[in-house]
Amino acid sequence: MPKIRFIEPDRILEVEAKAGDTLLEVAEEHGVKMGSACGGVCACSACHCWIRAGLPSLPEAEDAESDRLDMAFDVRPFSRLGCQVRVGTADLTVELTQESITTWFNEHPDQR
Ligand code: FES
Repeated sequence: MPKIRFIEPDRILEVEAKAGDTLLEVAEEHGVKMGSACGGVCACSACHCWIRAGLPSLPEAEDAESDRLDMAFDVRPFSRLGCQVRVGTADLTVELTQESITTWFNEHPDQR
């Protein structure tokens, strides 16, 4: 099983993931603070994350993901949308963006 290392500002969490699951699904399963304002249908950019390791192992973003990323904040060459990236066989390191964390806290006000 591939390992996904999630980087949040105050912790690093390494979890095992099932190939085929999206990063958002893995994050939600393990309480990682990845926002998902649209519920994972590529209609916001709350799940914007930076792939810090393993990016070459992933298929390139499709047009819908790229178009949506154009509306995100602080987009970098290694930016992806967590709801659109499916885990393959390679390990990944995924840093959450401030945009995503802020949305997650808005969705979980009890966690502030
Ligand atoms: S959760 Fe909205 S685009 Fe990924």
